[in-house]
Amino acid sequence: MKTTASAPGKIILFGEHAVVYGEPAIAVPVTQLQATAVVEDAPQPGVRLRAPDLGEDVWLDEAAAEHPLAAAVRTLLAAIESPMPVPPSPFPFRLKITVTSSIPIASGLGSGAAIAAALIRALARHLGRHDLATDERVSQMTYEVERIHHGTPSGIDNTVVSYGRPVFFIRAGAPVKPRPVQVLEPFTTGRPFHFLIGDSGVRAPTLESVSDVRAQWEADPSRMEELFAACGRLAIAARQALETGDTAAVGRLMTDNHTVLQNLTVSSEPLDRLVAAALTAGAFGAKLSGGGRGGNMIALVEGGQQKPVTTALLAAGALRVLETTLE
Ligand code: PMV
Repeated sequence: MKTTASAPGKIILFGEHAVVYGEPAIAVPVTQLQATAVVEDAPQPGVRLRAPDLGEDVWLDEAAAEHPLAAAVRTLLAAIESPMPVPPSPFPFRLKITVTSSIPIASGLGSGAAIAAALIRALARHLGRHDLATDERVSQMTYEVERIHHGTPSGIDNTVVSYGRPVFFIRAGAPVKPRPVQVLEPFTTGRPFHFLIGDSGVRAPTLESVSDVRAQWEADPSRMEELFAACGRLAIAARQALETGDTAAVGRLMTDNHTVLQNLTVSSEPLDRLVAAALTAGAFGAKLSGGGRGGNMIALVEGGQQKPVTTALLAAGALRVLETTLE
């Protein structure tokens, strides 16, 4: 028997960083980029984990605790075994799991979360545990895996890749405006939106920009909370503009969000240059996306206008430009 599941890449459209402090944010799937997991029954005992694109081939019982594929499998197995633990040995499974992905790694496009979500869903279905393959359960387990590598993420990445739809998200238990339960509202856009994703070519760990923002917040909470609240207001306005299909408004709100992110000090000279180039070339709006300091920026463009804006982004130093349409 063979079971396959996929999960998309993602971009954060509005509210990165502020989402950590309890403000709303919007993320959307990038369906053109997918992670896929294939689970097959195998003759030999044990679980073999393969990611040929990454040169990975390990047995589950030999993989380190932080091995991302092993962590995803172990998280699912722990959910299966609880509340009635089954003895781990003799190992009951004979499985081969193969993961492939077209999502660039370590670039804020949700590669790690999508691989975990695809793997967890495929394995849950393969083992007949469809109750653990729902969007909600897959998202929760993907969050557990994300925590191994990303400290305490807001939860927006695992949510958008597991639901595979645009989501309006407010985390629970934030240090500002703590709420007991998260807000998670998948929504539909009023028309297709065409985005370009420009890679600044600079690798910048999200953990660093997140801890830097935290240090600034601790030093001057009221100033930082005003900036977070500004991001939150933009996300609320943006949701309405996305739902009604108001492209010009979405674009304006994106550029406004970029300005606030500059004030949060998470932009950089290369990101600002790409945002300016996209706007000059006729984009409706542009902003950095994700942790910032490096990584990606996004531009909203008219259908058919992808070429000139792409050319401008490449001329301004983008390493690579991807096109995605949010239907
Ligand atoms: O770097 P990315 O795309 O994974 O986005 C991080 C988003 C932050 O808001 C900066 C952090 C978080 O946990 O939400």
